[in-house]
Amino acid sequence: MPGEKSANPTLDAGVFAVRLENQIYPNMESKAIDAGPNITSFLHETRVFPPPAEFAAQANVNSQEDYDRLYRQSIEQPEEFWGTQANQELCWERPWDQVLDWQPPFAKWFSGGLLNVSANCLDQHLDTPVANKAAIIWEGEPAENGMPGEERIITYRQLHRDVCRFANVLKRNGLKKGDRVIIYLPMVPEAAIAMLACTRIGVVHSVVFGGFSAQSVADRIHDCQARAVITSDGGYRRGSIVPLKKNVNDALNLKNAEGDLLTASIGKVIVLRRTGEPVAMQSGRDVWWHEELRHVGIECPAEPMESEAPLFILYTSGSTGKPKGILHTTAGYLLGAKLTTRLVFDLKPTDVYWCTADVGWVTGHSYVVYGPLANGTTTVIYEGAPNYPEPDRFWRIIAKYGVTILYTAPTAIRAFMKWGEEWPRKHNLHSLRLLGTVGEPINPEAWMWYHRVIGGGRCPIVDTWWQTETGSIMITPLPGITPTKPGSGTRPFFGILPEVVDDNGVKVAPNTGGKLVIRKPWPSMLRGLWGDPQRYQDVYWSEVRGSYFTGDGCRCDEDGYFWIVGRIDDVLNVAGHRIGTAEVESALVSHPSVAEAAVVGRPDDLKGQALVAFVTVKSGIQTGQQLRNELRNHVVKEIGAVAKPDDIRFAEALPKTRSGKIMRRLLKQVASGTEIKGDTTTLEDFAVLAKLTQVEE
Ligand code: WT7
Repeated sequence: MPGEKSANPTLDAGVFAVRLENQIYPNMESKAIDAGPNITSFLHETRVFPPPAEFAAQANVNSQEDYDRLYRQSIEQPEEFWGTQANQELCWERPWDQVLDWQPPFAKWFSGGLLNVSANCLDQHLDTPVANKAAIIWEGEPAENGMPGEERIITYRQLHRDVCRFANVLKRNGLKKGDRVIIYLPMVPEAAIAMLACTRIGVVHSVVFGGFSAQSVADRIHDCQARAVITSDGGYRRGSIVPLKKNVNDALNLKNAEGDLLTASIGKVIVLRRTGEPVAMQSGRDVWWHEELRHVGIECPAEPMESEAPLFILYTSGSTGKPKGILHTTAGYLLGAKLTTRLVFDLKPTDVYWCTADVGWVTGHSYVVYGPLANGTTTVIYEGAPNYPEPDRFWRIIAKYGVTILYTAPTAIRAFMKWGEEWPRKHNLHSLRLLGTVGEPINPEAWMWYHRVIGGGRCPIVDTWWQTETGSIMITPLPGITPTKPGSGTRPFFGILPEVVDDNGVKVAPNTGGKLVIRKPWPSMLRGLWGDPQRYQDVYWSEVRGSYFTGDGCRCDEDGYFWIVGRIDDVLNVAGHRIGTAEVESALVSHPSVAEAAVVGRPDDLKGQALVAFVTVKSGIQTGQQLRNELRNHVVKEIGAVAKPDDIRFAEALPKTRSGKIMRRLLKQVASGTEIKGDTTTLEDFAVLAKLTQVEE
């Protein structure tokens, strides 16, 4: 039992503060485990945090024995397990007849069943006390500096009505079951309304993040042959206006090399008025959302959909540059999203739950919209940035609405650390009872800060590992029972069988690094890549025969805890050692001067690859040769000489995707001095890249 060797369960916040200042990684053993063809894993975090007794006493899942028994059943008799869950969790128009039809790598779950996602998220609550509860609490970006943001609170009954009316608008504009629609909106309630309205009538949505360019919009329209775009005149971001409708207009004029319009499939553009800025509307094609509403009624029966009917397509960047259209379908996806939201976040009827992701990412689909609403939870949506007008925006919102559960990303947590503790300290965060993280490996340093400063030492942290492709959380603590270790997503969710394997697909021994695969199909798995079954097979099912390949490098420890060491494509090969980027980065970030670090390889005659670290420092820290030497020695101390960075380059910021992931592919090119090639459409800030390619310092 991991809990039994708990290192410091009772430490209070004060003790941590001292530890973090004086001692780095107090419980980190640095010894290389395994070498050879596998990935060598160096960092071994030994701190363990059992669930606080008070939390455990009230948790939805509170018995380790129940978990063990249920987990075993979910793996040994998956069809019984998932069949029971599907009956309990979902409202069916017609029951399914077969749990799983598995023709690897193509799965069909709950065949024969009919159901509707919007009915599961809305209608089922209308005859219950949930009907008049807040479904969405929306906070807008502040109109003026220092002013509180706009606020809208929408009950389940109101949301149901808004969704029905907008679904009627979609129908009025000629959209039918099976059509694809692009949603390109800011973080306003209408984004959720548009998504739910599509599901109500069987239209397949593809949400495109509001930060993407006209070209990305056009490429996605073209790939899925969308018939309509739902957008707005603009959105607010850090006090300025993002011209969404203008981008759509540009996208709809883009041509391919042969001179053909990329977007000829588009017949309609439905435009929400948000900023009031003047925009060009093309008559016959473009209509205003609010004007359309005048022509429709509030009745809109939910269309019964086949379990395997396409629900949404979400594009994610692939290693080749061409975005992959990840396809999710109806019943299995909803089951995964609903069940994980309730159990991982320990939902209670009184919770005010806030997942800070944009609806443009899968996290925004599963954990802002579908998972919370299917559970009748109050979900918070915030339009703006975490540091506008000031770096305490999140903490202000938590105090204002009494947020109880906060789910955010390591990149945000590192930014908060950089901005300083004084910002959260200004606000009362006592309503918080549970914290979550997702998106990248969280370095133990950031985990400890989140735990101490935001969680006040009392909130469990669920570090949830999953992917756009998996649809819902796969590896995660259950906060009432799982002792957590900073930096590990801990153990698999019910029905999920992950393993760490070598190049032959054979499971490796504990604490040996390898590839993370999933051995069994699960209901919310992707069903394919839109229009490209071959690429689906090649990318996910060919690396390790018969298993789903995640693309992640991983190590499983002696307690069965999973530790992601980075993407396999990023694994460094230094003098015959395969080292995950996450570990070296984590070691760098554990130095008190460092805010963020990204490590990549560059070709080296002697060692195969030399290690180049891009580092941003905390405010007020002097960069230069002295710090460079200090950091190199620090890594040697933490990990060993093999991981000593050959170059350390200080940067003001690192190139990131819009969802906050460091773009190591670009850094690799910067490090080796080659020209920047490939897809950069997901890059958040081009200025960052430009600065990096100029002379260092
Ligand atoms: C990749 C998936 C899942 C929603 C957001 C990202 C990395 C994600 C964790 C975590 C370590 C993580 C993996 C994964 N990742 N969560 N808790 N610990 N790594 O979705 O854009 O599809 O990215 O993000 O590398 O494969 P995505």
